Amino acid sequence: MSNTVLTFKEYKLNNKKISMLTAYDYSMAKLMDEAGVNAILVGDSLGMVVLGYEDTLHVTMEDMIHHTRAVARGAKNTLIISDMPFMSYQTSVYDAVFNAGRLVKEGHANAVKLEGGSVVCPQIKAIVDASIPVMGHIGLTPQSINAFGGFKVQGKSEEAARQLIDSAKAIEQAGAFAITLECIPAKLAELISKSISIPTIGIGAGSGCDGQVLVYQDMLSMFSDLTPKFAKSYADIGAQMKAAFRKYIEEVQSGIFPADEHCFKIEDAVIEKLYG
Ligand code: KIV
Ligand code: NA
Repeated sequence: MSNTVLTFKEYKLNNKKISMLTAYDYSMAKLMDEAGVNAILVGDSLGMVVLGYEDTLHVTMEDMIHHTRAVARGAKNTLIISDMPFMSYQTSVYDAVFNAGRLVKEGHANAVKLEGGSVVCPQIKAIVDASIPVMGHIGLTPQSINAFGGFKVQGKSEEAARQLIDSAKAIEQAGAFAITLECIPAKLAELISKSISIPTIGIGAGSGCDGQVLVYQDMLSMFSDLTPKFAKSYADIGAQMKAAFRKYIEEVQSGIFPADEHCFKIEDAVIEKLYG
C-alpha cells in the first residue's frame, strides 16, 4: 500500500493537497485506486446514496463491514477509511474500540472516522491507543441531523465557530491523524487548518483545507435526491447511464441486441442429430 497515514502527514508538511473520494463497492474502488486517489472513505453516506435512506442514522455495523470489505478488495494502494455508524461509538468508549476493531478485522479498513468534537475525544484516544488510526469529523455531522434540525451550514456565529476551533484542537490532542470539516465557512476552515498540525479534509469547507473529499455519486451527478452547493459535477454520468439504459431497452425490443458477435456457437452436426 503506497498511501498510509504517513502520506497524510507528509502531504501536510509539504503543502501538498490530499484527495479523497467515497466508495462502497469493489469496481468503483478499483477505478479510484487506479486513478491514484490518496484515500477512499467508505462513508456512512452509504445509507443515503446506496441504500436509499433519507439520512445516515439507519446504517449498521454489518452494512459498514460488508461494504468496507468490498472496497478493500478493489483498492490496493489507497488508504481505506471506514465510517463508524450512528450508535457504534457514542454509547461508550468500550463500544467505540470494539466496533472500530470490527471495521479493521472484519472490514479490512486501515482507519476509521467518527463524528463529533470534545465529547467523543475519549473514544478517539482509546481507539488510537488500540493502534487504529482515527479521522475526526466536525461541522455538519449528519448523524446529528435531528439535533441540528436539518442539513445546515455550521460554525457561522462566534460561539459556534469557537466551538469548532476548540473541537479541532481537542481531536488533534486525542491523537487523530486527520479531521474532516464538513459544511463550514471557508475562512474558518482555513484558519482551523492553519492552527493544527494534522491535515483537514474539507467537504463544503473551501480551498484552505489540506485536502478534499466528495461523495462519488455527487461528483458524477448520479444522485438527484440532494444536490448540495459544494458538490461540483465532474461528469454527467447519471445522464449517460440513463441514455445507455434507454438504448439497451430499445435494442432488446427491436432485436438489434444481441448480435452475432455476442452469441455462442454449436456445431451444425450436433443440431442435426438433435433435430434431424
Ligand atoms: O459519509 C460520508 O460520505 C462522509 C463524507 C461526506 C465526509 O462522511
Ligand atoms: Na459519514
